[in-house]
Amino acid sequence: MADNKSSSKKFRSQLWFDNADDIGMTSMYLERYFNFGLTPEELKSGRPIVGIAQSGSELSPCNYIHTQIVDRIRDGIRDAGGIPLVFPVHPIQETGRRPTAALDRNLAYLGLVEILHGYPFDGVVLTTGCDKTTPAAIMAAATVDIPAIVLSGGPMLDAYWRDRLSGSGTTHWEARKLHATGEIGDEDYIGMALSQVPSTGHCNSMGTALTMNSLAETLGLSLKGCASIPAPYTERAAMAYRTGKTSVQMVFDDLKPSNILTRAAFENAIAVNTLLGGSTNAQVHINAIARHMGLDITVNDWETYGYDLPLLVNLQPAGEFLGEAFHRAGGVPAVLWELQQLGKLNSDALTCDGNNIGSRTTETRDRRVIYSADAPMKEQAGFLSMRGNLFDAAILKTSVIDADFSRRFLEHPDHPGKFEGRAIVFEGSADYHARINDPDLNIDESCILVIRQTGPVGWPGSAEVVNMQPPDHLLKQGISSLPTMGDGRQSGTSGSPSILHITPESAIGGPLALLQNNDIICVDIPNRRVDLKVSDAEMADRRTNWRPEDLDTQTPWQQIYRDNVGPLSTGACFEMAVDFESVGTKIPKH
Ligand code: FES
Ligand code: MG
Repeated sequence: MADNKSSSKKFRSQLWFDNADDIGMTSMYLERYFNFGLTPEELKSGRPIVGIAQSGSELSPCNYIHTQIVDRIRDGIRDAGGIPLVFPVHPIQETGRRPTAALDRNLAYLGLVEILHGYPFDGVVLTTGCDKTTPAAIMAAATVDIPAIVLSGGPMLDAYWRDRLSGSGTTHWEARKLHATGEIGDEDYIGMALSQVPSTGHCNSMGTALTMNSLAETLGLSLKGCASIPAPYTERAAMAYRTGKTSVQMVFDDLKPSNILTRAAFENAIAVNTLLGGSTNAQVHINAIARHMGLDITVNDWETYGYDLPLLVNLQPAGEFLGEAFHRAGGVPAVLWELQQLGKLNSDALTCDGNNIGSRTTETRDRRVIYSADAPMKEQAGFLSMRGNLFDAAILKTSVIDADFSRRFLEHPDHPGKFEGRAIVFEGSADYHARINDPDLNIDESCILVIRQTGPVGWPGSAEVVNMQPPDHLLKQGISSLPTMGDGRQSGTSGSPSILHITPESAIGGPLALLQNNDIICVDIPNRRVDLKVSDAEMADRRTNWRPEDLDTQTPWQQIYRDNVGPLSTGACFEMAVDFESVGTKIPKH
């Protein structure tokens, strides 16, 4: 590699376009990019070549805004002295992709690693938005470790159903209940669903998309204020321009993901996720990004750095408001300001513009939307790290435990935070939908709904299904939730206090696989335990008789995925990929 610190800096891309040692290959590279008029004099000028990883398309509508503002990124790169090259990222769309978009996170990651390694890039602008698009891009940047900056697409505008705010996903969960109880018919069900989409942009509640983009900004990978700008705002296009400009400066300064994605930055992300009331999916994605950066962020770190912090951001599903209000209230910089007041911000963590994260804080303009750390929406609102004889690791999102759930399950005078329930077990979501209203299951208020075969191997990809709603007869009695647990995930837009990401998953023979209907499960939140009240002898007997489910593998990629994926607790990474580091310093053969 050239010495990037010298003034006559030679960039990685010049090994393709300005290589006197191999005029034959150099002429071939120059010739092919001439195809659309990019000239040899530009490519040989020694200017950095910055990729724009385009995640928007008609197949990825949540990120569609990037197809409309990509020219502003190009302008920024050009004005700062770089040369932009736009290329597509494997599309990911959360709600349209079957069996789950989670299958595509590692696919987009691998694809992006190959592109950034195998083509003449000195840096990259990562366009992000919909849930998995953000971690896929950042994971790749971590593995390749060339200068990289995140441009979020931004949330949709605030939406309304009739006279009420209609939050992405959150409205859908509500519509499902109203439909089940007969309060709305098919037409209103679809009407409520469509009301969630007033404009281009990603989900406007604090689901996985807004969570992950807010955490990308917290990690220091995007410019100050980037995450919350709604997609259609003029500010979004201006942010695209500034992001393009900054990407070139990062190449000149050789400011790489490894300089930014430090342990301190990840601790900040975990803390901010609590203040946001962020998605449970963040645990999987943040752990994955850290591992690809060579750092060990564990499920326990989520409790250590996140649990004992308050919920401050009043956004659905934990609160009332949506993305526009979050943006007007100050967005991520205002959340960082509160973390700083609590003395919990690692202020020295470096960001993409060369400034420390501590210099990026601004007090909120709206206390209805971002509460003060002195008077929070809820104390101790982070994730709990659970374990027991049913599993080694799982998480519980405490910020969405509402008063009704607390009263029914957690406020027993003799044993606060502890309850027992009769297990009702479903083998994946089709089984749940087929049998949840089956009277023979005898589901009542004392039941715990459990779903399995929904982990990374079992589904495959891990399904967002643990937030199961109770049977219709309980909903009609006003019982809107039961305790739920499973080896899958749930949507970040769900307000269900599930115990999820259970590891090891049932498909590979985790103890969850041995659970039977009507077994008694004891949940002990103060001791962070979930235990099955079945004797060891009985469990040993069940183990002897256990046979793995026949996995229906429908595509080659599903097989590759199943063969390589690790558990949700450590990020559902491809274990062999975690060993690859600084791939961008390895120069591929001609
Ligand atoms: Fe794409 Fe929510 S479904 S952002
Ligand atoms: Mg989601």
